[in-house]
Amino acid sequence: MKLLLVCYLLSTVLSAIIGIDFGQQYAKAIVLAPNINFEIVLTQTGKRKDLSSIAMRPLGDDIERVYGSDAIGVCSRFPQSCLNDVKSLLGRTTKDVESFYDSHFGIDLLEDDRNGIKLTLGLTNYEFSAEEIMAMNLLQIRERALGFLEGHGALPLLDDVAITVSPFATQETKQAYLDSLKLANFTNVLGLVDEGTAVALNFIMNRNLVDDETDVKQYHLVYDMGAGTTTATLFSFTPKQENSILEIESIGYDSGLGGKTLTNSIYQVLTKQFAEKFTPELSNKIKSKLYETAEKAKIILSANSEYRTTLESLYNDEDFKISVTRDEFEKLNQQVVQDLQKPLVSALNHVGISIDDVKSVILNGGSTRVPFIQNTLKTLIGNKDKISKSVNTDESCALGTTYRALQLKSAFMQPSDIKVIEKSNFDYSLRIDGETIPVFDIGSVANNSTDVTLAVLDKSTDTVVVELLENERAYKSYEITDLVKKSDKLTCKSKESKKVVGTFELDVNKMFDLSKLHIQCFSDDVEDVEEEIVETGNSTNGTTSKASKKSNSIYVPLPKATHLTIKPIIRSVHDKLKRKLAKLSDKDQQRVELNNLRNSLEGLCYEVRNYIEDNLDQLLEFTTQDDLDELVQEVRDLIEWLEFDSDDAKYAEIDGKFKQLSEKKSELTSYQEMQGKDLSITGMKKFHVDGNTMYDKVLERVHEFENEIADFEPKFVSEDFEFSKELERVETYLKNKNDGVDYLSKVKDIITTFKSNVADSEKFVKSNEKKWDSLMKKDIYHHYKKMSDGIVEMLTELISMELGHKEKVEMLDNKLKQLVKRKTQKEARLKQKQKKTEEPADPVDPVSEKADPVEDPTAEPIEDPVVEESSEIESESVQDAEPASTPEVEHDEL
Ligand SMILES: *[C@@H]1O[C@H](CO)[C@@H](O)[C@H](O)[C@H]1NC(C)=O
Ligand SMILES: *[C@@H]1O[C@H](CO)[C@@H](O)[C@H](O)[C@H]1NC(C)=O
Ligand SMILES: *[C@@H]1O[C@H](CO)[C@@H](O)[C@H](O)[C@H]1NC(C)=O
Ligand SMILES: *[C@@H]1O[C@H](CO)[C@@H](O)[C@H](O)[C@H]1NC(C)=O
Ligand SMILES: *[C@@H]1O[C@H](CO)[C@@H](O)[C@H](O)[C@H]1NC(C)=O
Repeated sequence: MKLLLVCYLLSTVLSAIIGIDFGQQYAKAIVLAPNINFEIVLTQTGKRKDLSSIAMRPLGDDIERVYGSDAIGVCSRFPQSCLNDVKSLLGRTTKDVESFYDSHFGIDLLEDDRNGIKLTLGLTNYEFSAEEIMAMNLLQIRERALGFLEGHGALPLLDDVAITVSPFATQETKQAYLDSLKLANFTNVLGLVDEGTAVALNFIMNRNLVDDETDVKQYHLVYDMGAGTTTATLFSFTPKQENSILEIESIGYDSGLGGKTLTNSIYQVLTKQFAEKFTPELSNKIKSKLYETAEKAKIILSANSEYRTTLESLYNDEDFKISVTRDEFEKLNQQVVQDLQKPLVSALNHVGISIDDVKSVILNGGSTRVPFIQNTLKTLIGNKDKISKSVNTDESCALGTTYRALQLKSAFMQPSDIKVIEKSNFDYSLRIDGETIPVFDIGSVANNSTDVTLAVLDKSTDTVVVELLENERAYKSYEITDLVKKSDKLTCKSKESKKVVGTFELDVNKMFDLSKLHIQCFSDDVEDVEEEIVETGNSTNGTTSKASKKSNSIYVPLPKATHLTIKPIIRSVHDKLKRKLAKLSDKDQQRVELNNLRNSLEGLCYEVRNYIEDNLDQLLEFTTQDDLDELVQEVRDLIEWLEFDSDDAKYAEIDGKFKQLSEKKSELTSYQEMQGKDLSITGMKKFHVDGNTMYDKVLERVHEFENEIADFEPKFVSEDFEFSKELERVETYLKNKNDGVDYLSKVKDIITTFKSNVADSEKFVKSNEKKWDSLMKKDIYHHYKKMSDGIVEMLTELISMELGHKEKVEMLDNKLKQLVKRKTQKEARLKQKQKKTEEPADPVDPVSEKADPVEDPTAEPIEDPVVEESSEIESESVQDAEPASTPEVEHDEL
């Protein structure tokens, strides 16, 4: 069943889908695409998960951003520049997160103009909202995912996303997730998936359902101890023939208990010891260092009975020795042992079952691997065989989220798919005029809507203000105005019997909102109702055409919402922020390119230096020790410059240096080529003689060609054709065919340059004859090389020239024949016409028409040189240029 289900759903995926588990500490992402089946997006270093951290440092006028585990180095040196847990800040106000400072040192959380949180991270020119920073993290994941898709032959398109959220995420937090995802260029958010739901779904996906009894409800429980919160999600699974049901029954939680609690217990001990040994005044840097050490100790103590380390030169150049035993660690956390059971007990009590009724327990979150935690949980659960081993604690949340994304993407539920029933974890209600109206109580099924009467209309009720509440906390309001006027369009039996009704929705993401508004007659008024009128607020068309019909309801456009706490990001700001993020990405890209160039230059420096070292003896035959020393010094300076002084260097500057050094390098390697070349004075003189002979021969050949072409002129002229025009056409045609190259003139240019190089070399030899042996070999080689390069070039082009010439001659020859033939045909036709006027009964000869499809030879400037014999050009000209005049040809081709 498992396989069948996934395969079926996968076949419905055309573009890629990504599921992201963005935790307080770690982030994981999984992609789905055609032929990519639940693949994890690896980090740059090939890891399956990355820290959720980001750090930003000033870099000139720009900033440098580092992500994940790469940020750790920055975090311990510059705690103010590092944000380890942006998730906790989403949709929160500065007042909500005061405890954030207990484990994030040097961070300043400021209030932004939407009442949310913004940070500067120690930067002077920049500030970012929590949503923007979240978007940066998401963009980085997206980049990696796109790279992965491309690397696996899939289209690098990624619009569809689902992400995990805490089951206790508020409306504002959910909105912040949606805003962040949009900023990160994900255009289609499939869902915000509760962590517990994701793990439950993954558990069911992995389960062998063959043994399960149909239609019997079974209970399971996910115990998830994350970094900051602990939740127990009790869910039921009812196997069915079609659409088995996974229902989230209840959630118990402790929002203050998590991995951080454990780290914190060690951190407290360390700070106390530090204060006793050194000073009670701890800098942020030292706090960060100690916190990092505490985190490490917690992990080591899961597998060892003791953790020892020395933080060298921690304070005033003095070391700080640390030792924590597992016993001490457990003693520190006795309260945790007590607290662990609360979420579990509360989840069970809510449904009224005991742990014995639970078939299996899925432990999730890194902290559930801590031995004393695991032991406590085993004791609570009673039967340790109940602890499921079928899910991968690290990845089940990401897997389940991606699976849920796939479900939400598929428009129709297949019989094999699992129906997921999620419930609200909060109460949702309305407040109107100080009175509270419950709408969806805690435990209400998500993806549902309901109508609520907001007001009974009379002449004095013109405005209604509706506040939306989550657990009695108002977060949004709607002011519905002009009700008297708006209700005028609706006619009910009695004047005072109208009401305003709102449709309220608790959507799949468990976001609660007003989705529709209408004014209705009371039900005892609607005897002769025929049809509803949809009032769009504008259409005069609708009202006039349907005015005669009776109706019990008219729709009222939704007024703009007022956000009472944190405001979402509005469209115009959103666009601005997107540009800001794109600019930062561009700069990152430029920096990567600059860095690559810098590395290339550095590589070249070492290459040149090594080349000189390895080939010193040979090089000295061609150049002086002084020149080489100078070059070595230059390279040394460059290496030093790169290391110490080039931080502000622009791309062009480094590129200039790279090109300069490249030239010098090729000069050095050219010395190698001089080996075995005859650079003696006799050798050079012989070269001049040979070179001149060669020049003469090639020139002679060129003249032969030119004469052969010129010989065509009288033949054309004698038939009354204009030779220069026809020649130009042929030459233009050939030139186009050969990418703009006319071989004859190219060879002429080459031999002219060659001739002048030989002359230069002769002059050089003449003026240096007496001091030949004291000349630098490289100066002689300079002339030698110019000549020998010219010869190579000449020989290469000669072949092309011969071929080109042959083609030209053939074309001219054909051209002439063709022109003559047309002339004859034209004359024949003229004669026939004359004959026709004398004897009108005679029909036109179709054969001659067909044989001469092109009426006017001058109409096709380039294509027409070849006719009949050569296929390609002709058929093109026939089809494209003159279809109308060549009906028979067209017909034949059909
Ligand atoms: C939808 O909500 C209404 C009102 O709260 C409730 O009566 C109804 O049972 C809900 N539907 C489902 C499928 O839960
Ligand atoms: C939400 O409800 C609608 C209408 O009842 C249904 O078509 C849709 O499949 C539901 N969506 C989910 C994700 O359950
Ligand atoms: C409302 O009607 C006016 C005039 O008929 C038109 O210009 C305008 O675009 C309409 N507005 C909407 C929202 O349809
Ligand atoms: C007006 O109503 C007619 C008939 O119902 C319809 O064909 C037309 O498209 C409507 N025009 C507008 C602007 O809605
Ligand atoms: C987001 O997408 C737009 C349009 O494709 C692109 O111009 C922009 O650079 C993207 N933003 C980032 C940060 O990559």
